[in-house]
Amino acid sequence: MSAPRLTDAEVAYRTIRVTPVGTALGAEIAGVDLSADLDDVVVAEIRRAWLDHLVVFLRDQPLSPERFLAFARRIGAPDRYPFVPGLDEHPEIICITKLPHETVNFGGIWHSDTAYLRIPPMATTLIAREIPPVGGDTLFASMYAAYEALSPTMQRMLESLRAVNSSALADVSKTREDRIRDAGGGDAASYEAVHPVVRTHPETGRKALYVNVAHTARFDGMTEEESRPLLEFLFRHQVRPEFTCRFRWSVGAIALWDNRCTQHNPVNDYHGYTRVLHRITLRGDPPA
Ligand code: SIN
Repeated sequence: MSAPRLTDAEVAYRTIRVTPVGTALGAEIAGVDLSADLDDVVVAEIRRAWLDHLVVFLRDQPLSPERFLAFARRIGAPDRYPFVPGLDEHPEIICITKLPHETVNFGGIWHSDTAYLRIPPMATTLIAREIPPVGGDTLFASMYAAYEALSPTMQRMLESLRAVNSSALADVSKTREDRIRDAGGGDAASYEAVHPVVRTHPETGRKALYVNVAHTARFDGMTEEESRPLLEFLFRHQVRPEFTCRFRWSVGAIALWDNRCTQHNPVNDYHGYTRVLHRITLRGDPPA
């Protein structure tokens, strides 16, 4: 039997194997054990794969919370999520849980994490602790691809706009309520931030569309009514299937995505089962 053909991405790495899972974004990384102390070369290659593929997945990494945090610290600086308190011993880690009696899942809408903060996270990483026997996948979309597919005139117009992002929009607020209640309260504040509609990635220099249906309320200087038709077009456009990939979780699988150029949406198709993941966000820069 002949050896499987390596993809272009696979031959470009020395210490890891990288297999794309979609044409727009997403790749699985193999050949690395995150429970060991990682060599700088390995970390640099994981980071390069992540910048190239926007979201990377590593399977069979049953890390303790300490080791998960140690991995996250090799990629960036862990930050706190404003609404849900973290684990007692590791406040940077929050638990994302959906129980058999619950019908609403955390973050169950297309979004980029906490776009309503002045400095949204650079990245988010999740590790799966318990997975339903069916369903519970997470979808990801490339906001580079979404921006690049627009006409040059639309791109130029959007580049001149800024948008108001809020934590208080109803569709996303309800996805947090169970987690805030379980935590015995949490932060009741609401957050708002104005960001460019098209942001330039500080590491790759590529342009990405930076509005999302969960948080973007209106264009800065326009009313909600004036903003709605164009925002509704962008919300539909930015998650076209050809800009997406889908990840089927397994226990011990890790996802690491770049919040500066992606959106994600956990699919809520597993009522009656438990799904538990741990999540860490990594500090970013103000979008520009
Ligand atoms: C999130 O961080 O938005 C949740 C993603 C997931 O549960 O797959």
